[in-house]
Amino acid sequence: MKKYLVPSLLSANFYNLKDDLKVLKDNGISIIHLDVMDGMFVPNLSIGVPVIESINKHMGDDFIFDTHLMIEKPERYIEAFKKAGADILTIHEEATTDVKSVLKDIKNAEMKAGISINPETDVRCLDEYLEYADLVLVMSVHPGFGGQKFIEDSLQKLEYLDKKRKDNNYNFILEIDGGVDLSNVKKVYDRGVDYAVAGSAVFRGDISSNIKEFCKIIGEYDE
Ligand code: DX5
Ligand code: ZN
Repeated sequence: MKKYLVPSLLSANFYNLKDDLKVLKDNGISIIHLDVMDGMFVPNLSIGVPVIESINKHMGDDFIFDTHLMIEKPERYIEAFKKAGADILTIHEEATTDVKSVLKDIKNAEMKAGISINPETDVRCLDEYLEYADLVLVMSVHPGFGGQKFIEDSLQKLEYLDKKRKDNNYNFILEIDGGVDLSNVKKVYDRGVDYAVAGSAVFRGDISSNIKEFCKIIGEYDE
């Protein structure tokens, strides 16, 4: 599968979101990462349904909306995010009691269903969900804030999941989120990552040239 850079809008300029999105589009970005926080599951608040809806209204055809729910009991909002324009809806294993049925409900709502784990969560807890997941997201920082340092132990989780995927012929997308930058993105792609989320490494400084640098690395993986 092709490798993607998936910019996290958490680090975008919200006053100037329209222009930032245009820069992403002009540089060939096709997937955007939308971080939703509730102040409960993580100690922070961020964007939610209205912002996603507004982006969808104007640029819905330009991007796949990769929506990362860092919220308690995400099952309450499946329909709301579907209506807002989410294409992929990722929940946290730690945030709900019946992961399997939430993943099924997301698929029934015609979105791709993603499952994510926090850095302190044992990756093996995902075993029972892998056959139902369209995407598996490994958090490589403690969720809640952009600009943190990449947790190196995440690399082993990626290796574990990539092997599981190969051994069982699963076809979930493998995604990593947190502290990804130009210095480590190759390490995660080499371990099977398809979607590398990056917030501060994309939006800090010149967005266009940051993306171009990432694309040079992605180019090394093109057949
Ligand atoms: C953190 C979010 C991330 C965040 C990543 O809770 O899930 O998507 O925006 O930001 P960076 O790339 O700066 O670590
Ligand atoms: Zn995220």
